[in-house]
Amino acid sequence: MALIEVVLGDIADEVVDAIVTAANESLLGGGGVDWAVHSAAGPRLAQAGGAIAPCLPGDAKVTPAFDLDPPVKYVIHTVGPVWDGGAYGEADTLASCYRRCLQVADELGVRGIAFPAIATGVYGFPSALAARIAVATIKSAQTDVALIRLVAFDQTAYDLLVEATQRDDLPA
Ligand code: APR
Repeated sequence: MALIEVVLGDIADEVVDAIVTAANESLLGGGGVDWAVHSAAGPRLAQAGGAIAPCLPGDAKVTPAFDLDPPVKYVIHTVGPVWDGGAYGEADTLASCYRRCLQVADELGVRGIAFPAIATGVYGFPSALAARIAVATIKSAQTDVALIRLVAFDQTAYDLLVEATQRDDLPA
């Protein structure tokens, strides 16, 4: 069972093997957390991402971390669902993001991974529901990753993630 941590900060500062970015299908970078990760990793990240694009919603693809400092070796790009009211499989797609990132991490032998709150910014996914989906998916995942860090960028997101880790009625 992985250790699940919730922290408040900039994911680009995380000291783990793999950092997850909330990307779009082009993997060329964008705003939000994608901007922070691409800014830290340098222009080669977009070149490498573009070469393996598209990444479909719910999927995850890996590139090197380039200019991100060691021990960060990988950037795992995942594309969350655009929130459209909740009746179009958005929850399942978001759960798939976390599951696929952990599958990719396991294929790489990653021991520590940091996730942002995928889809809760530009893509508009409600933060409280997203936090519960993230924690439920991570807790139910069969993974060899030892440390899973959920990185909140603001206090509200942090509080929601902490609350989700303390619930025992998470969605299956
Ligand atoms: N570190 C950690 N979390 C961050 C950071 C950061 N440096 N910057 C933003 N966040 C948080 C936001 O506060 C939000 O809670 O990441 C979460 C996800 O927000 P977005 O980055 O907007 O990602 P998403 O909602 O999945 O939208 C993806 O936005 O940036 C573009 O290219 C991206 O088209 C894609 C879309």
